[in-house]
Amino acid sequence: MVTFADLYAEYGVKSPHDLFERLREERPLFQVQLPNGVPLWLVTQYADCRAGLGDARLSNRIGTRIVAQDVLPAEIRASMGTHMLRVDGTDHTRLRRLVSSVFTAKRIERLRPMVEQMTSDLLDKMAVREQPDAIHDLAYPLPMQVICELLGVPVADHERFRTWSNAYLAGVGTQNFPVEVVTEFVHYVRDLVQQKRAEPDDKLLSAMIAARDDEDRLAEHELTSMCFLLIIAGYETTVNLLGNGTALLLDRPELADRLRADHEAIPAAVEEFLRFESPVPGASFRVATETLELGGQTIEEGELVLISLLSANRDGQVFPDSMSFDAERTPNQHMAFGYGMHYCLGAPLARLEAHIAFRQLLERFPRMERLDPSAALSWRPGLVMRGLTELPVKLNQ
Ligand code: HEM
Repeated sequence: MVTFADLYAEYGVKSPHDLFERLREERPLFQVQLPNGVPLWLVTQYADCRAGLGDARLSNRIGTRIVAQDVLPAEIRASMGTHMLRVDGTDHTRLRRLVSSVFTAKRIERLRPMVEQMTSDLLDKMAVREQPDAIHDLAYPLPMQVICELLGVPVADHERFRTWSNAYLAGVGTQNFPVEVVTEFVHYVRDLVQQKRAEPDDKLLSAMIAARDDEDRLAEHELTSMCFLLIIAGYETTVNLLGNGTALLLDRPELADRLRADHEAIPAAVEEFLRFESPVPGASFRVATETLELGGQTIEEGELVLISLLSANRDGQVFPDSMSFDAERTPNQHMAFGYGMHYCLGAPLARLEAHIAFRQLLERFPRMERLDPSAALSWRPGLVMRGLTELPVKLNQ
């Protein structure tokens, strides 16, 4: 069975977009092998991806099928793997309902002043940096500060989250599942829960603890798991949106000028950033609970499926001139936030952060450019995220 590396070599391509373009045409559904040896159906066409995400027979309860997770002690596995993205049916409804009210567009809009202040403070610091970098100075710290504030997690622990979350995401699906990192992360969250139990505040984590303690709607391991999910899902994803969008803007000064002159055009541009360089390249793994047909292929019960959002979002059957960036694209029914019952809970928050960050960045540093415009962009390793490791810039203030 072929690996991703084999496919890159076979087609002589470097970019995942070029690879997926070929696969959409030639092998829209085929089995590939993860670096840790696990076979996986890769789904690349938009229509099949949407059908797959809407099909209840493709379940998120993959259990221990990603073999590397077997190395985790059961209690640690439960404390990170029983969140809403890993269950379905009534458990999913129960868990999602517990926090969904916090993430409605209306509630999220109330965070605007706080996010504006955080962004402007970060840009103040960036302005005086010897070597400013759009990833380190803005894209990383902003989503982390926002999610920590929402949950009620100490700001001082930002850096530890960053280290854990990076190591976790780089290790998923590889032979080196980051056992120590995950264990440390879970222990940290458990300690935090104890601390909040002793001294509750008005933030989301305390509210979840109250739901667990008063009404017994949440098991202890589900509570830890939910924190784990919110930190990972709410953080790295948005980092990539801010970073990828900034890189796209820096390569298009005429677009930056247009958005600076017309802030109303920023939201449509953000949707195109999401389509064109999708921050989360694939939905989380699904497992077939029974034998089924998808895209003319039989998937046997128990087999794993990876829905490629990165590929779906470049499908020419749905997006005219799909490999070109068009900041005014309408309609733009991208699937960067997924589709179906696991559709991203944090989409309104991610959009709010992006609208504020790009607006302020454009206003504050109108002459910003890449430090070395001819240098190749440094994409992160691993299969789980599409984002940059760094983006050094000149501010030209
Ligand atoms: C689910 C993408 C930001 C919380 C998802 C899914 C995608 C996604 C593709 C579905 C995964 C699947 O079906 O397997 C993104 C992107 C983001 C972003 C591209 C930023 C640009 C956020 C933020 C939060 C968040 C800021 C919250 C703090 C969640 C949660 C789920 C989820 C809780 C699971 C929902 C469920 O299972 O019902 N996200 N996300 N995300 N996202 Fe996001």
